[in-house]
Amino acid sequence: MKGKIIVTGGCGYIGSHTVVSLIEDGYEVVVFDNLSNSKELILDRIREITGIRPTFEKIDLADESQAKEAYRKHSNTDAIINFAAYKAVGESVKEPIMYYRNNMFSLLNTLQGQIDNNIKNIIFSSSATVYGEPDSLPITEKNETKRPFSPYGNTKKVAEEILEDLTKVNSGFSAISLRYFNPIGAHGSGLIGEFPSGVPNNLLPYVTQCAAGVLDELKVFGNDYPTKDGTPIRDYIHVVDLAEAHVIAVNRLLNDKNKSNFEVFNLGTGIGYTVLDVIDTFESVTGINLNYSMAERRDGDVAVLYAATDLARDELGWEARYGLKDMISSAWKWEQDLRTSLNRL
Ligand code: UD1
Repeated sequence: MKGKIIVTGGCGYIGSHTVVSLIEDGYEVVVFDNLSNSKELILDRIREITGIRPTFEKIDLADESQAKEAYRKHSNTDAIINFAAYKAVGESVKEPIMYYRNNMFSLLNTLQGQIDNNIKNIIFSSSATVYGEPDSLPITEKNETKRPFSPYGNTKKVAEEILEDLTKVNSGFSAISLRYFNPIGAHGSGLIGEFPSGVPNNLLPYVTQCAAGVLDELKVFGNDYPTKDGTPIRDYIHVVDLAEAHVIAVNRLLNDKNKSNFEVFNLGTGIGYTVLDVIDTFESVTGINLNYSMAERRDGDVAVLYAATDLARDELGWEARYGLKDMISSAWKWEQDLRTSLNRL
């Protein structure tokens, strides 16, 4: 074994893919999850893919005593990857206290667990939302961070600031914050993927559920943006590429290759696609015509976001391997397999 890693939120979408990549790279993995937005069945799926079912602790990390106990039990850990958080942008606008309480308490209890047990390394799951409306494109890590539109986004920004403060006073402590652009896609096996509870907020799950007949119609939120077809541009990134970046970041910390105690990296492809590009690609990859129409802009959406990928390439030696067609075909395979297995239940 290369070392022991705690993955908080390891039953979730990006967490489960990262657990697979860590196991495949030779790490022992312990998953902490309260299953608030995921299912324990995912651990069996991880075993189907890797041959190993990670150790599981069902705990609510926002609860101080549960977190303390769990980190004490696994004090011989080399690094933590922190995914455990609520992530629905619209819900966070309506329920700010719930979002701040869950996302911040979970992080603070995790950091306290690290300090108490001398666990020196953490990888934090952040988001391009910390850039707000960018002043220049592509977005580099030097772009100014801004107050995000949503409480969800602000939990990411504040969390990064907490990590930065902590690494300043605690020189033995290292953190890497990974700022994802728009994660989509699923594992090639079709066994794990994104499973939003209720009506999805994000574009790709909405598209695949429309195509599967679960939802009737896709609304395109705004076609008067300053882009080639009027719809917003995003940098979609395959979740399997993201998972691999986390393993590289863990290796970097455990091998003392980080250049400072607090580092941030963008994770994107560097290529921007409009909403209509995504719809066209979905239709050509699957042969299915989507039922969609134009609608009003959605509050808080920015026109164009895509990453500068140089820093991740030069420092981490990481570049996205998959293109939009791969992302879409894997998401569609996952959606179809999911519907088949839900029908069987
Ligand atoms: C959002 C969050 C981001 C978060 C990411 C992944 C904001 C502003 N953005 O990104 O922080 O990390 O989700 O969870 O907080 N669209 C439609 N119809 C739909 C759904 C989406 O037209 O039914 C459009 C949106 O207007 C947008 C694009 O599709 O232009 C992508 O939307 P979405 O998948 O929700 O991601 P973001 O809003 O970019």
